Amino acid sequence: MTEAAIATPLTPFERLGGHATMAAIADRFYTLIETDPAYAQVRAMHGPDLTPIKASLASFLAGWSGGPRDWFTQRPGRCMMSIHAAYAISPVAARQWAEAMDRTITDIAPPDGQLADTMRQLLSDMALAMGR
Ligand code: HEM
Repeated sequence: MTEAAIATPLTPFERLGGHATMAAIADRFYTLIETDPAYAQVRAMHGPDLTPIKASLASFLAGWSGGPRDWFTQRPGRCMMSIHAAYAISPVAARQWAEAMDRTITDIAPPDGQLADTMRQLLSDMALAMGR
């Protein structure tokens, strides 16, 4: 058997650029939320210091995309939907979140563009499903 035939396929996490991409996405996303009035509803729902949530988002994205699962092991039995069920998220806020993430992924441009589009779509669907 050749080496290529037994090689383990790369995870989406690896194909998207690993921790560097997830950290860049989290940083860009909350910077947009912080600075662009178009996302004011989302900003208003968060505390003054976005540093902890930035780290949390980067860690979540790593585990969610098939990388290190620290975010999930630190929160046994929790998922994004159950965590957000505690908040009253309007459809407008959900759309703001999805639009800011869409812009973020365009700005960061992870190396595998096709996979980045899939990520964009899945995160948008997840955010819009939280609006009610
Ligand atoms: C795919 C969609 C979403 C993802 C991946 C996401 C990500 C996160 C993360 C990682 C946390 C921190 C949880 C923790 O550390 O345990 C969080 C908390 C929070 N999210 Fe989201 N979120 C999403 C959608 C939304 C939407 C649509 C809103 C509406 C504004 C929202 C508002 C909040 C609020 C209010 C908190 C808690 C406040 C805080 O910790 O500052 N999220 N979210």
